[in-house]
Amino acid sequence: MPASVYVVSIDPQASTVWWANRINDLPFDFSQEHETPENLAVLKDTGAQVHVVANQKGGVGKTTTTLNLGAIVSDTLKGQDKGLQHVFIDTPGSLQDENLLLEALKYAHDVIIPMPPEGLAFDPTARTIQKVIEPTGLPFKVTVNNWDPRDGTADLEDTKAYIDAQGWPRAEAVIRRYKVHTRASVEGKVVTQYPKNRVAMEAREDFFRLALELGYGGRS
Ligand SMILES: Nc1ncnc2c1ncn2[C@@H]1O[C@H](COP(=O)(O)OP(=O)(O)OP(=O)(O)O)[C@@H](O)[C@H]1O
Ligand SMILES: [Mg+2]
Repeated sequence: MPASVYVVSIDPQASTVWWANRINDLPFDFSQEHETPENLAVLKDTGAQVHVVANQKGGVGKTTTTLNLGAIVSDTLKGQDKGLQHVFIDTPGSLQDENLLLEALKYAHDVIIPMPPEGLAFDPTARTIQKVIEPTGLPFKVTVNNWDPRDGTADLEDTKAYIDAQGWPRAEAVIRRYKVHTRASVEGKVVTQYPKNRVAMEAREDFFRLALELGYGGRS
């Protein structure tokens, strides 16, 4: 059965491929295309929804979000033999590689912008949105990632208020910070492969909620 989800990385840093190579039984198709971004043009003819995960600030959770949304959506579509439905593109976290991001946006239907709840991320995120995303006219959503509930809600509320004040669409779903996500990249696991315990279920729930809210997987 052809995979319902395809994950592509165009990040030359290639941490995605490092991660993906470590995963046994990837729940989606995967390829690394930073050297041949023109290959993305085939996506136009697949009929699949193409989602670009972008933020030119490094380390905000683009790769984590891409792989785990891919895994959750693939899980949701399990057993439905409808061919390729969703493509997730992981993009570089640097200004130098803006041309690669622009190439991916040519084929995108929407954009997901992960952002941590910290002031240092505000300006770089704003730059990506104002200079790169908004000019495309594509629908986008900013998603707060890496919020640690143990830190209290002040930073989260400040970040939500900042996003709302900019007039950017914001996902209600917040991706909480869990060690299990940080460890996953080392262990080569995506969220659908985490051990079945309470923390892992909560970690999974965040991506499930986000996928549902974004309407990926047909159950929104
Ligand atoms: N919700 C989270 N909980 C715990 N750790 C997280 C979470 N999101 C991201 N991380 C960790 O933060 C680090 C950076 O995340 P990630 O690699 O996904 O960011 P990125 O935006 O893809 O970075 P780059 O710009 O370098 O590509 C990783 O070690 C990852 O495991
Ligand atoms: Mg990355």
